[in-house]
Amino acid sequence: MNFELTISPINEIDSDLELILVVKNNFKHDFIKDKKLLKKAGFKAGQDETCLFIERNRLYVGVESINDENLRVAFAKALQALSSTSYKTLKVATYMQNKESYHNIRAMVEGILLGSYTFNTYKSKSSTSKLQNIIISLEEYSAFELNMEEYADAIELGQITSDATNFTRDIVNTTPEDCYPKTLANIAKELTVDSELSCTILKVKELKEEKMETLLAVARASRHKPRVIHLTHKPKNAKIVVSLIGKGLTYDSGGLSLKPANSMVGMKLDKSGGAAVLGIMKAISEMNLPIEVHGFVGAVENMIGGDAYKPDDVLIAKNGKTIEVRNTDAEGRLVLADVLCYAQQEVKADYIFDFATLTGASVVAVGHYTSSVMGNSNKAKNLIIQGAKDSGELATKLDFNKHLKKLLKSSIADISNISSSPYGGAITAGLFLDEFIEKENKKRWAHIDIAGPAFIAHSWGENPQGGSGAGVRMMLRVLEKLANK
Ligand code: BES
Ligand code: ZN
Ligand code: ZN
Repeated sequence: MNFELTISPINEIDSDLELILVVKNNFKHDFIKDKKLLKKAGFKAGQDETCLFIERNRLYVGVESINDENLRVAFAKALQALSSTSYKTLKVATYMQNKESYHNIRAMVEGILLGSYTFNTYKSKSSTSKLQNIIISLEEYSAFELNMEEYADAIELGQITSDATNFTRDIVNTTPEDCYPKTLANIAKELTVDSELSCTILKVKELKEEKMETLLAVARASRHKPRVIHLTHKPKNAKIVVSLIGKGLTYDSGGLSLKPANSMVGMKLDKSGGAAVLGIMKAISEMNLPIEVHGFVGAVENMIGGDAYKPDDVLIAKNGKTIEVRNTDAEGRLVLADVLCYAQQEVKADYIFDFATLTGASVVAVGHYTSSVMGNSNKAKNLIIQGAKDSGELATKLDFNKHLKKLLKSSIADISNISSSPYGGAITAGLFLDEFIEKENKKRWAHIDIAGPAFIAHSWGENPQGGSGAGVRMMLRVLEKLANK
């Protein structure tokens, strides 16, 4: 999709369709051309309400008030309403706020791109929107001396972050038959073509050399061999170093602690953390931020079979800690334990963030819309919370405590892979990961459980049904902030 920015008046722009934003209870604006018709149609301009006048080539969409969040979602809903139409060019005017309103434009671009996303790979007949050109008129801003470069940058940032989110959505939506560990590795390698990213892939031989035995145990019963991916963005004069680690379970059957039939449906989502890391790395290289970013993905399939790892096994993680397996469905933390150790060995980072669809308990605790953020440092956690706010994602902190930590005790090994209590499962999973964070890194790390928002059952906000790309936009805001400090 192409975006064009112009100060030409909206009425002088040629296009197939005009998208008109209406603020609730404010029908006075000149942009609103069909006031009587809108009244007849019962259009109140409530948030996300749409009204399409086909013969007039005008689509109206309502917002409660003008802010980034409302704009992003309203534009996404408007674009969703156009999903099966044949319009090719769309023009839209903007409401002037002040001359620093470029963040509003970024939100609009994000809404347009996130809202026009569809996943048709497995449909024999696909219905995608034909929209190619979006023309944004800054007519209203003509009273100000505009810094057009800032507006163009806002559009570009909106495009890069939304394209990356849609890229992650595609990976998450792809079936486990078509997306397995080697596929994720190939996608990572593909990202290095025409970019300055570099990529190292660890296969079984290297994983054994690196003593990543807990990851290998989880992977053992699958016909698909595991991979650990390491992507690097290393510009000259980098100000800060960040490591990102993603859970890339291309399928989670639960293993021998097999999931019940209904809970297994949808477990292609379990690669969402890894897919988010790939999306973030793609965007970071496109933005060319002056920070060093490393993306690690533990790509594994958790299956059953004669060779499967078992409840009662004791595994030795890369850092030498022994783990009693009491449930093979708590596999993500086993994979992450080794990848976290590997990431810390390879890179001395200022910040370490991991993304994982780690626990159903996170969904129980905070619901489907929100990610939970854990760790030992308020500074690291607050960065994520703010990044979520700035990007339109939802995230909230869940606090660690020493009582919950005790529930991970094992009588036979250093630690058990599940808690002895059915309660507080999101936090005990986070506390398990904490065992694999080195002392000097404790305050540099935050864990983000994206189990709630990673996969959307029924469309909400700017998200269609399916993979949401959770984590991508929030992390990009964090990295932008760290780069601009
Ligand atoms: N991948 C799941 C967590 C999950 C559940 C993500 C639902 C998204 C939606 C994870 O590997 C898992 O199975 N966790 C178990 C842990 C339990 C055995 C301690 C869970 O949450 O039930
Ligand atoms: Zn599991
Ligand atoms: Zn899992």
